[in-house]
Amino acid sequence: MQIYKVGGAVRDRLLGKPVTDIDWVVVGATAEEMLAKGFRPVGSDFPVFLHPKSGEEYALARTERKSGRGYGGFTFHASPEVTLEEDLIRRDLTINAMAEDDQGVLTDPYHGQQDLENRLLRHVSPAFTEDPLRVLRVARFAARYAGLGFRVAPDTLELMRQLSESGELEALTPERSWKEISRALMEDHPQVFIQVLRDCGALKVLMPEVEALFGVPQPAAHHPEIDSGVHTLSVLEQAALHKQPLSVRWACLLHDLGKGLTPQSEWPQHIAHEHKGLKLIKQVNERFKVPRDCQELALLVGQYHTHGHRALELKPSTLAELLQSFDVYRRPQRFEEFIAACEMDARGRLGLEERAYPQADYLRGAATATRTVAVQPLLEQGFKGPELGEALKRERLKALKAYKEQYSQ
Ligand code: CTP
Repeated sequence: MQIYKVGGAVRDRLLGKPVTDIDWVVVGATAEEMLAKGFRPVGSDFPVFLHPKSGEEYALARTERKSGRGYGGFTFHASPEVTLEEDLIRRDLTINAMAEDDQGVLTDPYHGQQDLENRLLRHVSPAFTEDPLRVLRVARFAARYAGLGFRVAPDTLELMRQLSESGELEALTPERSWKEISRALMEDHPQVFIQVLRDCGALKVLMPEVEALFGVPQPAAHHPEIDSGVHTLSVLEQAALHKQPLSVRWACLLHDLGKGLTPQSEWPQHIAHEHKGLKLIKQVNERFKVPRDCQELALLVGQYHTHGHRALELKPSTLAELLQSFDVYRRPQRFEEFIAACEMDARGRLGLEERAYPQADYLRGAATATRTVAVQPLLEQGFKGPELGEALKRERLKALKAYKEQYSQ
């Protein structure tokens, strides 16, 4: 049997990037031989094994044919006769279809190295369309390597368009889609992920609510970029530049969905878009079975981002309600994430990227002011149950009034 390093490990070494996961392909072996050598099988009908010591993935060279729609609709053909070239040709991109033996000798039948040099994300063969997830994968690689000047080859974009129009994206499981989306959002240029999905017609299938933002104008005074979709991409770009966590990036992507529902007659105003957008945010959250922390933050940011921007003008009672909605006393980190998302929203506007956001410190100060209200003295005064809650609210409001007065001096 011959063993080769394949996929991302070869690609990233050639790009001079750190290699984290190593995938191996095994040519000329049977499953029985692998088991005899102590490899552990990953699934019952998947020709993939884990190394007994390193835990790395070793896949038998295989050809793959599609037998039905969606994930699980694959049949694998793995046998000792499948050659390295036959295995590589069914992979997604040429830059992912190179192999390296233990002497460091490269096998590159589909010119991955040349595409690395030309900064091209190009499919290997028509077998690309065997897995619709590849539409998201290519967009994710585009987001990762945009800084190096990579772009999607026109023919590949065309195949991605065909896959998007075929109805196959709808058959992807929420888990597989979310894994790609969440990884893509954490790349250096997540806005490129959304842009590429849009370019190939996948965005209107996966997230029509985001697609609907493009072509919708906003008032030039606050939004020199005008277009709501362009604004959303800029907000995402800012979130990546400021190294925000996944929950903030997800909230940035969805914060303005309500603007896609505004009747044209009201353009460029978007009255109550914060509230109108909530059902759309919920819908997208559920579609991809998004983790709870991301779901919650997206809804809160959707509902309250305008409050964030207007923080210095808010009445103490409104500020108190805002802090209460975030349960800032028990969930201080979530409020920090809200502030971050608001700041990214403010910066994600043409020409305003560097502008200061004093609202951030003001909101932080307000949260601290209410947190300094102690429960103990109220308990000592005999408050309990709902009355204790009311008393706490009163004291917090008092603290916020004092904070606001002091701040404006
Ligand atoms: N692959 C593929 N089609 C897919 C998934 C994976 O062709 N839908 C192939 C590619 O050759 C890829 C390899 O399997 O390089 C390993 O896949 P994976 O570990 O998911 O990705 P990497 O390329 O290693 O990329 P990453 O750095 O994102 O993990």
